[in-house]
Amino acid sequence: MNFNTPQGVRMTNQSERHVPVLFKEALDFLSVRPGGAYVDCTLGLAGHAEGIVRQLGPAGHLIGFDRDPEALDLAKFRLQRVCQELGSQAPQVSFVGEAFSRIAEHVKPASIDGLLADFGVSSLQFDEARRGFSFQADAPMDMRMDTRTGLTAGQVVNEMSERELANLIYEYGEERRSRTVARAIVRGRPVTSTAHLARIVASAVPPMKHIHPATRTFQALRIFVNQELQEIRALLEAAPQLLKPSARLVVISFHSLEDRICKDSFREGAQQGIWKILTRKPVTAGEEEIDRNPRSRSAKLRAAEKTVNSS
Ligand SMILES: C[S@@+](CC[C@H](N)C(=O)[O-])C[C@H]1O[C@@H](n2cnc3c(N)ncnc32)[C@H](O)[C@@H]1O
Repeated sequence: MNFNTPQGVRMTNQSERHVPVLFKEALDFLSVRPGGAYVDCTLGLAGHAEGIVRQLGPAGHLIGFDRDPEALDLAKFRLQRVCQELGSQAPQVSFVGEAFSRIAEHVKPASIDGLLADFGVSSLQFDEARRGFSFQADAPMDMRMDTRTGLTAGQVVNEMSERELANLIYEYGEERRSRTVARAIVRGRPVTSTAHLARIVASAVPPMKHIHPATRTFQALRIFVNQELQEIRALLEAAPQLLKPSARLVVISFHSLEDRICKDSFREGAQQGIWKILTRKPVTAGEEEIDRNPRSRSAKLRAAEKTVNSS
């Protein structure tokens, strides 16, 4: 079934069936309190958000962020339907179409009972060829989550110096052969599409056992274009001021660069007496979830509770 949302965004079977990663674990750690105020920093297809909305009750409030206008429209559509179904038991739901690094402009200090962030790209973004996130389909190289602003991946690969490209691919893709890849890209310019870039990278580096040789280069470009690591750092820095004492912070990462930032930030916060860490080791998906949803294989969930004494 395909049908149009009120905003004209195509909603597919796949988005309808969308299953959020580590759903039960995320909601258990958030420990949603009826009547509380919660933030979902990464609404995406609103799977986690729906779970929160269903537990909040009429006095509760969910504030949802997504900087991708299409994702925000779909999330609104889905959550409005859930609220209609809940009727008088529905909580208040607010939407913010901005990057979560700007959270402090939208949320009052010490007003939040729980904050969830499920980083990275949604399956909708990844599977929609025209968004340019995947090398599985041939498409223009965009890769911007917020399609209203910023450089596209095409501009980056075609305009950056070889040296800058190599550094970016090394830092954000953890690609040991970054210099070789950057040289091949510069020689192959103009790079016209995702499939073209994948071919250039595949011809420059030897085949790999488990992943396509362009995987790391694509990851690097996506992280750079969306400033993903800076966004996470800004969110983790802002969070302690926005949460009430005993409020929970739950983050889900999909690669080691994201997870390292979260792990270090939690550890430093714990040393400063801001956080009590609730996950000594990150929580990962079980076999059954990985079978159902292979994307969950790399997910790592970390949770912390704000201490009562920190301001
Ligand atoms: C992995 S998906 C979230 C899926 C969601 N938890 C669900 O249940 O459907 C991540 C979403 O966060 C959004 N996003 C990523 N980084 C963001 C940022 N810095 N600010 C706002 N939204 C962001 C993306 O546009 C994407 O829609």
